[in-house]
Amino acid sequence: MSAFSGFYKKTIQERLEILKTERGISDEEAKVLLDSGALELETANRMIENMVGVNHLPLGVVPGFVINGKKYVVPMCIEEPSVVAGAAKAAKLAAQCGGFAADADEPVMTGQVQLVKVPEDAIEKFDSNKGKIAAKAKELASGMERYGGGYRECEAHLIETSRGKMLVAVFYVDVRDAMGANTLNTLLEGIAPMLEEKIGGEARLRILTNLAVRRKARAKCIWKKELIGGDAIEKILDGYELAANDIYRCCTHNKGIMNGVDAVAVATGNDWRAVEASVHAYAAMDGYKPLNKFYKNDEGDLVGEIELPLTVGTIGGAIGTNPVARIALKVLGVKSAQELSMVMAAVGLAQNFAALHALSTVGIQKGHMKLHASNLAVIAGAKGEEVERVVERMAEQKKYSAEAAKEILKEMRGG
Ligand code: HMG
Repeated sequence: MSAFSGFYKKTIQERLEILKTERGISDEEAKVLLDSGALELETANRMIENMVGVNHLPLGVVPGFVINGKKYVVPMCIEEPSVVAGAAKAAKLAAQCGGFAADADEPVMTGQVQLVKVPEDAIEKFDSNKGKIAAKAKELASGMERYGGGYRECEAHLIETSRGKMLVAVFYVDVRDAMGANTLNTLLEGIAPMLEEKIGGEARLRILTNLAVRRKARAKCIWKKELIGGDAIEKILDGYELAANDIYRCCTHNKGIMNGVDAVAVATGNDWRAVEASVHAYAAMDGYKPLNKFYKNDEGDLVGEIELPLTVGTIGGAIGTNPVARIALKVLGVKSAQELSMVMAAVGLAQNFAALHALSTVGIQKGHMKLHASNLAVIAGAKGEEVERVVERMAEQKKYSAEAAKEILKEMRGG
């Protein structure tokens, strides 16, 4: 990764040259990255309804992630300053401590069929027909078998609701490198008539659940005491403890984790709403809790661990249509959706480490506002070299606001 040294201090063109030599990006792909119209209007018009234009977000990369001994250049697509820098800092410190260890479950997605107006013996009927139901489900998901996936299991339970008793039939499908929504929903809609016939009642909702508890990724890192200091570790642990015991802090703690996770999801063309829904529902399963843990080991090092259900893919959906997402995946160099989910878990953990480190020591404003300052300068009307000069003056004055930037600019331009 030495080619990436000082990456953030280089020009955009120099950064792209490094991606070309280090990540195999072609001249054509570099052009696509630089082209803010890379997503053609015709393609965009086919992606959503009532399309009237294309919105843009910056795409950055973090070169220093070491996960299971492999070096990654992680693409992050996000509008917020200091997220990429925070991830880079945490990844760099993690790499000096041996990097992240990560693993992921098989990519098994879950779907539900709701049956209403069911007979008393609905569960018995489901159980006695399970063989036939499973055979039909296997047939409906057989397209996944050639990739090593396919139908895995089904079960059913009853729920009592204000609208009467309902049966929920649950299906598990290994969707390999797809996010899996289409595969699941096709199966669920296909199997519903059989469920009505064998069990009785009427099918209503037939849809995947984003709470993919069988599709979790985990990452762990031990940040060494010698590197980050015993005092910083104590402060980070104090900060973590607030999140573990106070939902108001916990919400922001998890938001910080999702800064990283979402940025990778967006960069790689994944459905970040699905990722968000899944992760927050998981955090709330036993009362809303942090998505990760921080504790001290016997040596006094800081151990960070994270576990997230991640419904992400490396094929299908917007990945096929968005050229930037395809290039981002090439830069990342993951071979499967499982590997992508491991990277995302590590980025989430790194992001939280960076935020907690800053929050519990110097405060968030120092690093964040320093990086946000150029936005403020642009908002104030600074152009070209003026931007840097306004940023420098704001740092000298330790005043970070659009108003302060306007004042400085006015002064610089001679009142
Ligand atoms: P620092 O220690 O002042 O930075 O941190 P440094 O200049 O000493 O550099 C250290 C390393 O950071 C660098 O190493 C880079 O890896 C990286 P080097 O390569 O120089 O050897 N780094 C950068 N990478 C890319 N671009 C840059 C850059 N600067 C440093 N411009 C830093 C500065 C901003 C990293 C630190 O203050 C930090 O991590 N802050 C937290 C950032 C953060 O969490 N931002 C999220 C936005 S705020 C939010 O929404 C979430 C929050 O509410 C969540 C929560 O409450 O938990 C905070």
